[in-house]
Amino acid sequence: MVKPLVEVAKGRFSKRQPIWFLRQAGRYLPEYMKVRQNVEFTELCKTPKLAAEVTLQPLRRYDLDAAIIFSDILIPPMAMGQDLSFGKGHGPILKEPIRDSAGLKRLRHPNVVNDLGFVGEAIELTKQSLNPEQTMIGFAGAPFTVASYMIEGGGSKTYTEVKKLLFQQPDVFNGLIELISNVTIEYLLMQVKAGADCLMLFDTWANQLSAQDYRQLIFPELNRIIDSVKQQCDVPIIYYPGQGLDLYFELSGYKGDVVAVDWRIPMDRAIGLLNQMNLNVSVQGNLDPQVLIAEEAVVRQRTRQVLEAAENARGHIFNVGHGLQPHINPEAIHWVIDEVRSFQKA
Ligand code: CP3
Repeated sequence: MVKPLVEVAKGRFSKRQPIWFLRQAGRYLPEYMKVRQNVEFTELCKTPKLAAEVTLQPLRRYDLDAAIIFSDILIPPMAMGQDLSFGKGHGPILKEPIRDSAGLKRLRHPNVVNDLGFVGEAIELTKQSLNPEQTMIGFAGAPFTVASYMIEGGGSKTYTEVKKLLFQQPDVFNGLIELISNVTIEYLLMQVKAGADCLMLFDTWANQLSAQDYRQLIFPELNRIIDSVKQQCDVPIIYYPGQGLDLYFELSGYKGDVVAVDWRIPMDRAIGLLNQMNLNVSVQGNLDPQVLIAEEAVVRQRTRQVLEAAENARGHIFNVGHGLQPHINPEAIHWVIDEVRSFQKA
């Protein structure tokens, strides 16, 4: 059975334009909050039955083309030995941040089946409830973005500790990136084995590096992950390089199938630049998620503008340009989907 998202990701024609939303399972849904009331976020991720349940919640409400497995990019660092928690009101906290070679040595290369098998189980459970046209998306953080949390011990505004490691102990920095990359390859393949039809790599903080450091230290490892996965299975790969067009200049030779475009970048400009870089890729995105607090006419107009701006793309997977936030209007998702469907008919 043909899956529209997989077809469009690979640059093939689909009668139906695929649509899904970054963080489509989450706190803006009352049914998610109900599950969350009784269970911590990391526990939710580690419990396949509950993770599958919240993964499916948005698909019960909306006519979506994909489910993304409910988890987080910081679950693998947890399996590597760093304690993960989410404090109330602030983001993730990773204990004992990696700041030197002793820190790097403390980490272990997990056995992905034993230590992260719950993600595979959640994918298997979720898949049982998808129809054959719907795509099961697996994911991981890209190495730099994951490393940045492991080094800082959480989110950061300045990335001081990341830069200290990069410039003062480059061997440790590179060793950490390599370890994360190796784990990520096995982790993604495990997800495909469990039923993922498509994979996404999130590199939200890649823009914190200079072009030179991104090109020399990060991009080759990203492509190595993509290469290794593609050697063993035939699933399309989506890469989100975060905010800012400047990194697009460094994507020459990118081996994935799709670039996910941030909402701050005009979609037509992103497509123009990707073409200029000779990249034969489809695009995903890029509605401003905060538009989903606006009145219906505005939501529809902004949706249409994204569709029009993407008309010259090899293929376009409609999405927001960053994750949905808790305060958006769940009703507005219906308006977006309806607008996408009627644009296609027109
Ligand atoms: O899209 C989906 O529905 C799949 C699940 C998913 C989550 N996080 C669930 C989540 C995915 C793909 C992610 C990716 C992720 N996680 C990224 C990359 C994309 C991006 O948003 O930039 C990053 C940087 C993280 C790290 C992370 N996880 C942060 C900074 C936070 C706290 C901020 C926040 O939004 O609360 C999380 C927690 C998190 N991950 C939640 C969800 C639904 C909120 C958990 C809750 O309190 O219920």
